[in-house]
Amino acid sequence: MAKQNELAWWQRTIAYEVYPKSFLDTRGQGTGTIAGITAKLDYLQKLGVGAVWITPCYRSPMVDNGYDVADYYQIDPSFGTMDDMDELIARGREHGIRMVMDLVFNHTSEECAWFVESRSSRDNAKADWYIWRDAREDGSAPTNWRSIFGGSAWEWDEGRQQYYLHTFAKQQPDLNWENPEVRQALFDIANYWADKGVGGFRIDAITYIKKPAEFVDGPADGADGMSAVHAATANTPGILDFLHEFKAKVRDGRDIFMVGEANGVSADELDQWVGEQGVFDLLFEFSHTLIPMHPSEVWCRKAEWTLPDLKRALAASQVATATNGWYPAFFENHDQPRSTVNYFQCAGPLAEKAKVLGAVLLTTRGTPFLMQGEELGYGNAPWKSIDEFDDLSTRNQYQFALSEGLDEDGALAACVRYSRDNARTPMQWDASANAGFSSAEPWLPVHDDYATCNVVAQEADPSSVLNWYRKLAALRAERPVFTVGDWTALLVDDEQIMAFERTLDDSRAVTLVNFSDEPAVYDASLVEGLEQLACSQGTSTAGVLRPFEAVIWG
Ligand code: GLC
Repeated sequence: MAKQNELAWWQRTIAYEVYPKSFLDTRGQGTGTIAGITAKLDYLQKLGVGAVWITPCYRSPMVDNGYDVADYYQIDPSFGTMDDMDELIARGREHGIRMVMDLVFNHTSEECAWFVESRSSRDNAKADWYIWRDAREDGSAPTNWRSIFGGSAWEWDEGRQQYYLHTFAKQQPDLNWENPEVRQALFDIANYWADKGVGGFRIDAITYIKKPAEFVDGPADGADGMSAVHAATANTPGILDFLHEFKAKVRDGRDIFMVGEANGVSADELDQWVGEQGVFDLLFEFSHTLIPMHPSEVWCRKAEWTLPDLKRALAASQVATATNGWYPAFFENHDQPRSTVNYFQCAGPLAEKAKVLGAVLLTTRGTPFLMQGEELGYGNAPWKSIDEFDDLSTRNQYQFALSEGLDEDGALAACVRYSRDNARTPMQWDASANAGFSSAEPWLPVHDDYATCNVVAQEADPSSVLNWYRKLAALRAERPVFTVGDWTALLVDDEQIMAFERTLDDSRAVTLVNFSDEPAVYDASLVEGLEQLACSQGTSTAGVLRPFEAVIWG
C-alpha cells in the first residue's frame, strides 16, 4: 500500500505516556527511575508502542513534579543520571521505540539560574527574560488575573520591588518570549535533545507563551473577584510567529515530531497549527476532555453533557485534520482523571468501560496516545482525605470549592472525581507488595485492587483489558485501513452508541461501542458484508450491542 508507506513513523505507531515518578522504581526509594523505563521496553514493545513521551525528568525542585525545570541539561538525581537517559534512548531504538521529551518552555522553575539572575536586579543581563511589572499605585498586583493553579498570577519580589507573572504556580515564573535571546536559549535546549536521537517533543503549555500587548483586568469570574489568566493570555495573536521560528530552528530537516499542548486552541483553528503550513505535527487540543467538566474548569461545579456532545467534539478534530496535519487521539494524560470514570455517566464494570475506550482509541484516525495504566483499565484511586493528594492544583481546587461554599465532603468529592493524581498513581506490575512498583512505600498509594488489577494477572487472562489493547494494536498494525483510511462519523445523534467508519480503497471497517448500561440497537445493514474482527464480549450480534460492548467489523 503506497499510502501506508507515505506516512511518517510516528503516524503509524502508538505513543505511550510515561510518568516516570510512577512507572517503575529500580532503586527502592518509592519513586520511579529512568532505568525503570529501560527495564520495561519489552512490555512497551508488545503493546505496539513506538514512541514514549516521558514527562519532565530534568533537574527540578518538583513543586509541580518536574514541570518546574531548574536545568534543562541535567537529569534530576531522583530519576538517575544522564548516562541512564542515554542508555534508555539507545536501548529504546533497539526496540523500535523512540523517546519523546517534554519541553516546558512557557516557564521555568524559580530555581533556574536564569530566574535567579533575572530577579537579582533590574539591570542584569537577564533582567527581561521574565515578565516583570511594577505594582499599581496602591501596591497591588498589575492585574486581577488568577493563575491556573489558584491565587493571583502575580508574585511580589522584594529584591526587584516588582511583580513577576506566573501562569501556573508562583514557583513557575513565565519566560518572556519577546526577547530573542530567550527564544534562542530554548531552541538550543531542544536541539541538544534532538541531537541525542530522541524521536520528538511534547511542548508543554505552549498556548501561553505570547502575552497580550496590554495587561488589563478581566471580568471577575469567581467569588475571589479574580479573572482566569487563561482568558487574558491563551492563544494571543502573534503566537504563531514564535512557533514558526521554533519549527524552522528545531524541527526542519529532522525525522522527529512535535506535539503541542494547546489548551485554548479549538478544532476550527487547527489548520494554522498543524500540517505543512502549521507549526506542529500534532496538537493536543482539549475540546473533548472539557465535555465532562463544567466550562469554567472548576471541579466543584456541575457538568451537564451527553454522548452526542462528546462525539461532536471528537468529530470536529477528525474533520479538521482529515486533509491537513495529524490527530493525536487521547482520553487520558497525567492531567486528567481516569477515562473509565471521566467518560461514563452510569455504573458498570471498569474493564468493560476500558475496552470501549480502547476500541475507539486504537481504531480511530490518528496516532493513539495512551497514558500508563490506561491499558489496564484503572478507575480513579480511592482517596479518603485531601491530605492524601500530592498535586498542587488539587489542593487549590479544594480550597476554591470551600470558598464557593461547599462543605469539606463536597470539596473532597470534586477532587476525587477530577484530580490529576488519579492518573499518577504507581503502575501495577504484579501482585507483590506495592504492586511490584517499588520495594519502598510508594509516593502515591496503589489501588486497593492491585492484587488482581496488574500486568502479570492481565497477561494471563485472555479476556483482560491488556490483552484487548494488544489485540487491537496488532489489528491496527496489520490493516492499513486503520492508519491511513478515511474517517467518517456514524450514528451521530445516538445517545448510547459511538460509531465510525474507516475506508481505504476497497476496504472498510466499522467500530461500534456502547457507552451505556442498556442494550443498544442499530441498523444491521451498517455492517453487512463485513466480518467481526474483534469483540470485547465474545461474539456480537449485528444490529445490537450489549451494555458496554465494543465491536470492530472489517
Ligand atoms: C501542563 C502540564 C501540567 C503542568 C502544567 C504546568 O499543562 O501538562 O502537568 O502542571 O503544564 O507546566
